[in-house]
Amino acid sequence: MVAFALPYTLHVLAALIWVGGMFLAWLVLCPAMVSTLEGPARLRLWVEVFRRFFGWVWLAVVVLAVSGVGMIHLRFAGFETAPRYVQVMIGGGIVMFALFMRVQALLLPELRAAVQAEDWAAGAGVLARIRRMVGVNLLIGVGVVAVASSRLWV
Ligand code: HEM
Repeated sequence: MVAFALPYTLHVLAALIWVGGMFLAWLVLCPAMVSTLEGPARLRLWVEVFRRFFGWVWLAVVVLAVSGVGMIHLRFAGFETAPRYVQVMIGGGIVMFALFMRVQALLLPELRAAVQAEDWAAGAGVLARIRRMVGVNLLIGVGVVAVASSRLWV
């Protein structure tokens, strides 16, 4: 039981950091910046926010995967015999990671390039696409946490 407590705690903390960070970015930071900063300053600040937050997301992804697989071996016999809510969680986690990779590997470099070139119109377009993608990932993340913690779906 004590052996399970460590991966379980790390797993929930990692989910909290990833989903909570997206919640803050989408529902708090974004509207706060729109009402206080001009376009160029806002885009520069987002580049810096993403650079710092994405480091934590990478850590959360690794911790979620390692602790999740560890818990499956400790509590259930394997992936096939794990309850449905755990399988949904793995599927949701994979989709969340794919969307995160799209932002990290494709959209963020585009945003950086636009800011460096001081092409504010292009930057605003990329930022709007990132915002959509983070919004989708936030919804999936909230759904995964709801499915995991309600355990209705066994
Ligand atoms: C590789 C991906 C993942 C694996 C293998 C995995 C596996 C697991 C396992 C085995 C448990 C314990 C279930 C139990 O004791 O009944 C768990 C719990 C949990 N997971 Fe995941 N998980 C993954 C991804 C995620 C993601 C992406 C999130 C949220 C963003 C998440 C959120 C949670 C939460 C909140 C719990 C605690 C549920 C509770 O007992 O109340 N997991 N996970």
